[in-house]
Order: sequence, then C-alpha cells, then structure tokens
Amino acid sequence: MCGIVGYVGYRNAREVLISGLAKLEYRGYDSAGVAVRTETGLTVRKKAGKLANLVADLDQDQIEGTLGIGHTRWATHGLPNDRNAHPHATEDGRIVIIHNGIIENYLPLKEALQERGHTFRSDTDSEVLAHLIEEKYAQEDGHLERAVRAALKDVRGAYGIVVTHVDHQEIVAARTVSPLVMGVGEGEMFLASDVPALLPYTRDMVYLHDGDLVVLHQDGYHITTLDGTPVQREVSHIDWDAEAAEKGGFDTYMLKEIHEQPQALTNTLMGRLHDETGEVRLDITLDPASFDRVHIVACGTAYYAGLVGEYLIEQLARVPVEVDVASEYRYRQPIVDERTLVIVVSQSGETIDTLEALREAKKSGARTLGVINAKGSSMTREVDDTLYIHAGPEIGVASTKAYTSMVGAMLLLALWLGRARGTLATERGQDLLHAARELPRLVEESLTPERVAAIEAVAAKYKDARDYLFLGRGVNAPTAFEGALKLKEISYIHAEAYAAGEMKHGPIALIDASLPVVVIATESVLLEKTISNIQEVRARAGRVIALVSEGDVEASRHADDVIVVPRADEMVSPVVNVVALQLLSYFTATLLGKDVDKPRNLAKSVTVE
Ligand code: F6R
Repeated sequence: MCGIVGYVGYRNAREVLISGLAKLEYRGYDSAGVAVRTETGLTVRKKAGKLANLVADLDQDQIEGTLGIGHTRWATHGLPNDRNAHPHATEDGRIVIIHNGIIENYLPLKEALQERGHTFRSDTDSEVLAHLIEEKYAQEDGHLERAVRAALKDVRGAYGIVVTHVDHQEIVAARTVSPLVMGVGEGEMFLASDVPALLPYTRDMVYLHDGDLVVLHQDGYHITTLDGTPVQREVSHIDWDAEAAEKGGFDTYMLKEIHEQPQALTNTLMGRLHDETGEVRLDITLDPASFDRVHIVACGTAYYAGLVGEYLIEQLARVPVEVDVASEYRYRQPIVDERTLVIVVSQSGETIDTLEALREAKKSGARTLGVINAKGSSMTREVDDTLYIHAGPEIGVASTKAYTSMVGAMLLLALWLGRARGTLATERGQDLLHAARELPRLVEESLTPERVAAIEAVAAKYKDARDYLFLGRGVNAPTAFEGALKLKEISYIHAEAYAAGEMKHGPIALIDASLPVVVIATESVLLEKTISNIQEVRARAGRVIALVSEGDVEASRHADDVIVVPRADEMVSPVVNVVALQLLSYFTATLLGKDVDKPRNLAKSVTVE
C-alpha cells in the first residue's frame, strides 16, 4: 500500500514529487508528505488527508531543491494524522525515510532503540527504520548505502523504502514485496511505486526485484542484492500513452474506465480469437493435458471474475475447479500437487494475499498461471505463464474494466481448454467464439447515452435506500456479487448478494417495501426460475429492479423498474450485465455526493495482509 516517489536531478524536485504523487493517490490518501534537500538541510512537509492539503501547505511556503522523496499513505500502524505521515526523520533531521509495507518486528526493534536513547515521534512501524539507519550510518563511517543494507538485515516484513541523508546528493532505495520501479532519465533519476507517476518524465523503466537495493545519483544508478552483490536489471521501454492514465474528458476515472470497456475487451480478446480456424491462441506454454484440477485464487472483484471462470471452465472444459479468496486459501492447506493448475487473478499483480497464496501453491509443485493486468508486476514474475488481460492502467479504486477483461480472459481460457481437451463441440465452440467477438460491441451498446440516462434515473429513484439486495443465478450469480460489492464500495450503502434460489433460505426475511432488490433476469436457461424468485420478492412488497435482455416481455411484467441490456449468449452475458450494475453504483454514489475514485478506507493495490 502507499505510493512512493523519489527524484534526483536538475529539476525542481517538489514539482516532480507532487505530480508523481497525484498519479499514485489511488494507492492511498490518508496523508501525504515530501522531503526536499534544500540549501539549508532536509526540509520535511507532511499533512493528513488528501494530497491537496499538502499542496496547499507547500504553496504558502515554497521549498527548492533538486533531490526529494514523497509519499502518499494508506495507514496500517498509527492514525492517519500529520505526525504519522511520511517522511520520517531522525531527531537531528539529517536522515529521512519513506516506507511502504509493514515491519513485522518493529516493536522489539523500537523498544531496543528507545533503550539506546532514541525518541520516537510517531506511532508508525516505519519510524524504526530511520533510527536504525542512523545507528548503522555511524557504524559504517557515514556510508549511506552500507547503512541501509545493515539496517535492513535487522528487519522482518515487507518494504519499499527510500532513504536520503543531508550530506549526500543520493537516494538509497530497496524493496521486498512492496513494488518499486526506477525511471532512467538523462542527468536525472526517478523512483516510484508505479509507472504512471514517472511517465511525464521518462519511458525507460527498471523494475526492481525483491531483495534489490539501488543507489540513485543524478548521473546514474547501481543495483545490488541486499548482501551487496551487484546485479543488472533490464531497462524496459514503456509505450503507454501518458493520456491513457488521465481522465480523458470524464468527470472521474471510474466513469472513464467504465466507458473504456469496449476498447479494453477488444485488447483482451484481439489477436487471440481466430475465426478462420475457430481457434483460440493464448501464447502460453501451459500444456492443457498437464493438470486434473484447477484452483482459482484471487481477492475482491478479481475473485468474482474467478467465480465466473469456474463456471465457464467447468462447463466448457469439464475440469473440476475450486475458487478461493486468497487470504483463506493460504491457510486452509488446500490439496495441491503437480497435477493442479493454480490460476491467480489480479489487476495489480501485487495484492499480497494473492501473491503469497501463489507462493504457497508453488511449494506444492502446482503449475501456475496469472490472469493479470499490470505488466512486470510481482505475480507476473513468479507464475509459469501470464495471460495478460490488457485492460490498460486502471486508476479508479473500484475495479471496472479490469473485471470485464478478466472475465473475457477467463472465457478465452475456457474455450481454449474446451477445445484442447475435446470437451467442447465444434459448433458450440464456433458460437461462443462468435459471442466472444461480439462482446466489445455489446458493451458499447450498453453505454449509449439513452441507456446510461435510464440507469441514472433508476439510481436517483432508489439512492436513499439503506440496504440493497442483489440476486442472480448460474453464471450470473457472481455478477450479483460484484454488483453488490461495487455499490458498497463507492456509495457506502449496505448491499448483500445471493444466488437467487438461495433467497428463500433466509434473506427473504429482510424483504419489505423499503428494500430494492436488483434481480439479474436476462436471457438464461433458468429465466423461468428467476421470474419465480422475482414473484417471491414482490409477494413480500419488495421493490424489484430487473435487469432484462432487450426484447424481454416476461420478466419486465413483474418488476417495478427495468434496466434493459443488450441480448447476449448466457455464457458471455456476465460481461454485458455487470456494466449496468457498475453504472447503477456509479450514479447512486455520485448522486449521494461521494468521491467514487477515492472511496473511504480503500486503496487500489492492497500490499499488506
Ligand atoms: C474492488 C476492488 C478490489 C480488488 C482487490 C484485488 O473494486 O478493486 O476488491 O479487486 O483488492 O485487487 P487485484 O485485482 O489488484 O489483485
């Protein structure tokens, strides 16, 4: 969690730091801070709350310098206030550090440091690093790189750390688990937790690996392992358009990303579906005959994409699939062997629960596949194969385009496996290939101004509801789960989701005239049963918002409100249906005045357990 930026060169460091932090606020926005090496020493400024608070403070009293480090925080230890904001300095202010991650043994370290006379000024685990480095700096005769290396030997946990000292025009950084990428410029060097922070300045990036320690000077850098062995890391040239990470005319990143879904899906599917031969080509080394069962492991929205994947893979490829939330999977001692394929699904490729679950599975000899968005992320480096979803950078904290692209990738995988294992009849395979190819167009149709306005009207009608219920069946049960998650995340309205047939086993007790119930009643072999569920809700005075396929007459008759979506083959319909639910949540939240791009308490990339 948290965002880090570092700069050493010839520009005004403050500007580089602030523009970089603005791109990283999605990683956390409990507080923000910078330290700049000025003519008079290291000047630290930090403020609780969003970056704008820090910017206002800096605007009143400018700081000038060509080296600096900056941070935007998502609190783990200590309240999100000014004193717990990073950077943290030693008492004499000569060393400043920024830390992303968790120092697990910080308490014994802190006690020992206090006994040796150090005074702490924050409640964070991170501050121990500043004091430890100070001690090691003295022991290492004023050699900052060696001091950082020695300090890191004493700590246990996850970190992306950047350090600077008033006497050195250099930044020392290191990482274990928490991501860090270095930007290479001419006469200047950059560091950040994520690429978009650096794109305005350079496109040449070096992804630091776990256990790397780097020293950055104006004229270059050198990387070593934590024990001091020099290592070379490849420089990757990034060809993303910097504009791609901006809002592009929409009010929010979330709305922009909802509207980017046709393009994102095209990117996911493009080049992988071959009409002439009816083939799906995935460019992975995985042997479809090398496993007898599949485990899908992910968190949050990615987990729901995994649930759709379970349905598709079992239906089309007839392989048993289990889906787990990663934080549980690690600890439940799942039965995994060399004949198990473990698929991790992740937008960021950095979610620590998923990453650790992957590592656990690898220990048991599983084959591993990542369905991942972020290029070069930690998971992509640890799996046997990556099926990139190619959704492009997703900035809005609530995941939208990554979800539909993940489901698109799951569909590709299921088709590919079904073909390879001989479980998918040629004709059905052709139909589904065609249906998959149609997805970008169908999602485009879901986003016409008329359809969007109709959903906004429904959102306006129910925006003051205290609770919501979402129901769906079969391959669209996960769509209901994802719809409820989106609503909770950004509008803070309590929402529950159930497989529709399960409603009568308990949740039905909740239904009364104040409860809007969103029912996914699109074209399906189970549609009649879903209509029975709608009637059960109506019989208890519940208010039904039915999601129906274009041309529907049956389900619509029983609903209070109807959201019409383009008609799609049931197997691909989760992609189309979820778009309407994203918009319903989006408008509910914005009509309630919520900040949808930065919902409270959340962060885009969760790199703590
Ligand atoms: C919800 C959301 C989260 C993420 C989850 C996993 O809108 O964004 O639930 O889906 O934190 O993140 P990734 O996919 O980066 O592993």
